[in-house]
Amino acid sequence: MKMAMETRILVIPFPIQGHLNPMLQLSKRLVSKGLKVTLVSTNSSLKPNNIISSIDFEFINDGFDAELNPETFDEYIKCFKVVFPQNLAKFMESRKSLGFPFKFVVYDSGMPWMLDVARDLGLDGAPFFTQSCAVNAVYYHLDQGTLKVPSEGCSVALPSMPLLGSDDLPTLVYETDSRQSLRELIVNQMLNIHEPNWILCNTFDKLEEELDQRFHQNTWTRDWRNDNDYGLSLFKPYSETCKTWLDSKAINSVVYVSFGSLAAVGEEQMAEIAWGLRRSNSFFLWVVRESESQKLPKNFSEETSDKGLVVSWSPQLEVLAHKSVGCFMTHCGWNSTLEALSLGVPMVAIPQWTDQTTNAKYVEDVWQVGVRVKVNEKGIVTREEIEVCIREVMEGGRSKDFRRNSEKWKELAKEAVDEGGSSDKNLEEFVAAIVST
Ligand code: UDX
Repeated sequence: MKMAMETRILVIPFPIQGHLNPMLQLSKRLVSKGLKVTLVSTNSSLKPNNIISSIDFEFINDGFDAELNPETFDEYIKCFKVVFPQNLAKFMESRKSLGFPFKFVVYDSGMPWMLDVARDLGLDGAPFFTQSCAVNAVYYHLDQGTLKVPSEGCSVALPSMPLLGSDDLPTLVYETDSRQSLRELIVNQMLNIHEPNWILCNTFDKLEEELDQRFHQNTWTRDWRNDNDYGLSLFKPYSETCKTWLDSKAINSVVYVSFGSLAAVGEEQMAEIAWGLRRSNSFFLWVVRESESQKLPKNFSEETSDKGLVVSWSPQLEVLAHKSVGCFMTHCGWNSTLEALSLGVPMVAIPQWTDQTTNAKYVEDVWQVGVRVKVNEKGIVTREEIEVCIREVMEGGRSKDFRRNSEKWKELAKEAVDEGGSSDKNLEEFVAAIVST
């Protein structure tokens, strides 16, 4: 391990919470295997609340001055794509002239061009895919022309996957999606997929066992056993408030609700969720980000204070690991999905966009750890539907099956990261290869 201690790599996430979190976890695992890691983020609009000390951080300007939110996201990507690579290349050049400490670059799969930047500087690199292997495979087939996108109401069969209906595919496969820059970023992940020597995936072997081996060269997960803090939050988590409140509730009695760091829910939908939660009669802990809070029905928090707690951000890993949480109503962002699976929490899936629809399909039909809500003809999930789904997961006929299946995935996730487990072995192999080159 002495040689590994002298090996420093650069890790470059796309700078939003859902991409920073898994790459931070990967970084921590790599550090635990003896590598030194410098993680690059941007400093224009994102101000992290806390930073862990075992990793060096470098903040590089991405030239974006406005606030990053769902409305400005497409603009952000346009700006990021131009300014960030230039500044990053300058930074890497300057390090090179100082003796160049980096030996390898792990980059977000949304930046396939990073492989060329690295190789121009004489380094090798590997993309890190933040989404599931199933979703990777869908984009791969799209890129290769082997996915014929089905029209509404029809299905498509792809190797080693369940039949996917038009509403199970990632929303960005559709040409009509208005967020063109985001679509381009996502679809272009596969541009040079055959070039890197390594591909890192945010999953574990048993979870997506059947899938394309191209995406199984190297899988990892965070150390689910004793690490409940990502170490870099772009929002302020209400940790003590959540913990005290959860501590006062009975085992499996709380529905935790969160839609991640980006999704924006319409006002009508927000009201249906709110009153659906109320109707379910369960306790609920609901994360409503500051930018969403004005959409809450008037007086909702006050009127439901006997049943619910609304916070603008939670320490999600701690919440999901808490014994009083019996169900996670989630937008099915891949991190949230993987976190719930790995912590054994059944789900109500209420997907919004991108890969979340495919994740929801797997939650319901493949891993069988919950139900997916039905959307009505107006594109709304009604309060009645929310109530039915929560009751089904919390106390319905299949609730025991959901809990049993969730426990199974939790055990398999632990097994994967335990010493000698599949993810652990993959990481060891990866680190050994970097150190020996
Ligand atoms: C996005 C996409 O939705 C996701 O599908 C993609 O694969 C990665 O980027 P996001 O929408 O933010 O991310 O959702 P998710 O992937 O679930 O990531 C959110 C992260 O924020 C999770 O790691 C979650 O633990 C954390 N979080 C969320 C908190 O720590 N506190 C909260 O209150 C809410």
